[in-house]
Amino acid sequence: MAWWPDGGFLMMMMTIISFVQAEDSNRFFDLRVTYGNVSVTKYVPPTRVILINGKFPGPELYLVTNDNLIINVHNDLDEPFLLSWNGLHLKRNSYQDGVYGTTCPIPPGKNYTYAFHLEDQIGSFFYFPSLAVQKAAGGFGAIRILSRPGTPVPFPQPAGDFTILIGDWYTGEDHKDLKARLDGGRMIPRPYSVLINGNEDTASTSLTVDKGKTYRFRISNVGLQLSLNFEILGHMLKLVEVEGTYTIQTKFTSLDIHVGQSYSVLVTMDQPPQNYSIVVGTRFTDSRSTNRIILHYSNSKSSKFVPNRQPDNDIDFSIKQARSIKTNLTASRQRQDAQGSYHYGRIKISRTLILESSAGVVNRKQRYAINGVSFVPADTPLKLADYFKIKGVFKVGSIPDKPGRAGIRLETAVMGVHHKDFLEIVFQNREKYVQTYHLDGYNFWVVGIGNRWSTWSHASRRDYNLRDAISRSTTQVYPKSWTAIYVAFDNVGMWNFRSEFWARQYLGQQFYFRVHSPANSSRDEYPLPKNALLCGRASNRHRRDFIP
Ligand SMILES: *[C@@H]1O[C@H](CO)[C@@H](O)[C@H](O)[C@H]1NC(C)=O
Ligand SMILES: *[C@@H]1O[C@H](CO)[C@@H](O)[C@H](O)[C@H]1NC(C)=O
Ligand SMILES: *[C@@H]1O[C@H](CO)[C@@H](O)[C@H](O)[C@H]1NC(C)=O
Ligand SMILES: *[C@@H]1O[C@H](CO)[C@@H](O)[C@H](O)[C@H]1NC(C)=O
Ligand SMILES: *[C@@H]1O[C@H](CO)[C@@H](O)[C@H](O)[C@H]1NC(C)=O
Repeated sequence: MAWWPDGGFLMMMMTIISFVQAEDSNRFFDLRVTYGNVSVTKYVPPTRVILINGKFPGPELYLVTNDNLIINVHNDLDEPFLLSWNGLHLKRNSYQDGVYGTTCPIPPGKNYTYAFHLEDQIGSFFYFPSLAVQKAAGGFGAIRILSRPGTPVPFPQPAGDFTILIGDWYTGEDHKDLKARLDGGRMIPRPYSVLINGNEDTASTSLTVDKGKTYRFRISNVGLQLSLNFEILGHMLKLVEVEGTYTIQTKFTSLDIHVGQSYSVLVTMDQPPQNYSIVVGTRFTDSRSTNRIILHYSNSKSSKFVPNRQPDNDIDFSIKQARSIKTNLTASRQRQDAQGSYHYGRIKISRTLILESSAGVVNRKQRYAINGVSFVPADTPLKLADYFKIKGVFKVGSIPDKPGRAGIRLETAVMGVHHKDFLEIVFQNREKYVQTYHLDGYNFWVVGIGNRWSTWSHASRRDYNLRDAISRSTTQVYPKSWTAIYVAFDNVGMWNFRSEFWARQYLGQQFYFRVHSPANSSRDEYPLPKNALLCGRASNRHRRDFIP
């Protein structure tokens, strides 16, 4: 997977990343994107999926804090393609985010080399295809960022470290058919099943462990919409990490993992040696589905086998669990996290946003909106329009800070934020579904989660956790409830904010934060990379437009 490019190419890449520290290691990846035919289960014929280096899911990227990444992505599909990096901060570098608002799509048959620095990040994340509904066909893979040698980790080295990508799956529905449905104004059908590491029928797949030892499991929900529950029957899950933050180590019998979220748990193999099910089941939906893989104790001859069971839909239990997930302040302080202060509870709030989702029909087509605005992509990536000062692509302030009149309008919605603003954002969910929101380029503090049937008010602030709230990049909002976050906008750029329910995102439930610094300095933001693809109204721009 790793490769060494020729000297000229290397020189070019060195210039691109010359803003980053030279003592950090450079890590090269060559990722080739192709279609393939894969059978997710023996009961259905092979269907078309997106492979990365011939694999489904794609290869896991093993990285270390402060690495410089140089990732050459070759698009061998017959359609444009982009990879995005869920949860990576890409400090000062939103050009590398790989979403259509920041980066031109890689045309079929072409390649593009991402270059960015992993400033102060550790933890478990994933990459995924961000365009259209390609995520429904795969193209995703795990990202694991280890601490630098010598940096303390708040638990003993586990005996093994497993990555488990889980997600809902639409057997028999090609990703282009799903896109055509959405373009036609119809919703996608309910998912058909749950995949674990690319398999639908995994009772025969097993992870082998030794009795008495402790293992780490890194679990990400890479699906399109459903919340999933993760459980290892007979075993406790000790939560240690959430999206790059070490947590207070709390034990759970099962863990809710909403779409787009990542968790690490430690599990000690303290049960009688036999086979146990690792069960992943859908939550908070009528379409019940489960899948499992086997946890196999080595040397066990026992034929006893604990079968799987369907998780229930207890929302109050889930809310209680979500509130109990907290940052371990001691552990997290040991790595210098540049993102905001740990005394976030004492910082003055510069602005409050109240964001409310809605669904509706516009021009006879299904749309979704935030504060009445349904996002439509522009003909040019917003970041490039901003850089080249191309007028008429988007308007800062085209989405209001609070929900207003009823109805939905279509707009290339961009919210302006000043560099170093400290915002309180309340997600009000009046719908009957669990929603999940993600902010690119940032972690935020989840300071409050409402009870069921509650509306946020100023009085809700009395119950905020202003001490050790979890810092993460993806949060759920329970049905008929609210979630409040604090965000320190210290990362200049154009950053996508979206529903992780992919069809809703595609049909407008997203917008961009333009985090602006008047300083015009590479200390705040790197210039446009020299190899940047140009498209739309930026395609006629010339090299001399680039900062030398
Ligand atoms: C997948 O299978 C179809 C039908 O058999 C075939 O036409 C196609 O070439 C295959 N695609 C790949 C990438 O192997
Ligand atoms: C495409 O890949 C080749 C090496 O395979 C490299 O020389 C070239 O610079 C890459 N192009 C871009 C735009 O990254
Ligand atoms: C237990 O797991 C092992 C390894 O996957 C497998 O060979 C064996 O058949 C399993 N036993 C039962 C009873 O499922
Ligand atoms: C927090 O992390 C420290 C290591 O820095 C560890 O010793 C301690 O057990 C952790 N506390 C909890 C409650 O998980
Ligand atoms: C920002 O700096 C660059 C290079 O120093 C300069 O070319 C450009 O005009 C500046 N832009 C603004 C808005 O000051």
